[in-house]
Amino acid sequence: MTRVRYYTATTLDGFVAAPGDSLDWLLSRDVDPAGPMGYDGFIAGIGAIVMGGATHRWLAAHLAEAGGPDGGWPYAVPCWVFTRRDDPPAIPGADVRFVHGDPAAVHPDVVAAAGGRDVWVVGGGDLAGQYATAGLLDEVTVSIAPVTLGAGARLLPAHVELTLREVARNGEFCCARYDVVRP
Ligand SMILES: NC(=O)c1ccc[n+]([C@@H]2O[C@H](COP(=O)([O-])OP(=O)(O)OC[C@H]3O[C@@H](n4cnc5c(N)ncnc54)[C@H](OP(=O)(O)O)[C@@H]3O)[C@@H](O)[C@H]2O)c1
Repeated sequence: MTRVRYYTATTLDGFVAAPGDSLDWLLSRDVDPAGPMGYDGFIAGIGAIVMGGATHRWLAAHLAEAGGPDGGWPYAVPCWVFTRRDDPPAIPGADVRFVHGDPAAVHPDVVAAAGGRDVWVVGGGDLAGQYATAGLLDEVTVSIAPVTLGAGARLLPAHVELTLREVARNGEFCCARYDVVRP
């Protein structure tokens, strides 16, 4: 059965980006994508992805650092981007549809596109919080970088009760996977 998974890196004090949307605190760190709770194993189980407009704009502007091996769109599965903007950046080769409003409205389409695999809520915290509030989020997995920032884009700005399921160390990161506790 498809699960909806928020999988992200975070600072120890719960920010997914520094003020101004910088990810400099993250991109230089030691991590093994093929290692414990790493990206390679995670993405193999993903059939569709969703992200907020700010995350999409960041990706569009940083394809050289965070894009695929050819510097292009890094994902091979369909993507939904939540934005109210009329002119989101176009990224060549990206299988993206731009939507707005309640995530529940498009959820059946996202799950159908996932084809039995899981849905990745890429982030940021704004959109992940909406998924949690709508009762659509099943799992939160964080890779905690050894840094605090004091300010930035928040990890998950909602009240979400969690049950710890798995922990691991990967390079510089402390990784933890939680199930969302349904009310
Ligand atoms: N550490 C990590 O691994 C990681 C992971 C993901 C993201 N990030 C970073 O986090 C930062 C962004 O996080 P964030 O929480 O500020 O933003 P976000 O969730 O990526 O995007 C929020 C924006 O998306 C649009 N949006 C959100 N929900 C919507 C809805 N239901 N309908 C229509 N539009 C909606 C709105 O802006 P518009 O209408 O103006 O588009 C909103 O301001 C970026 O710097 C990104 O790179 C880091």
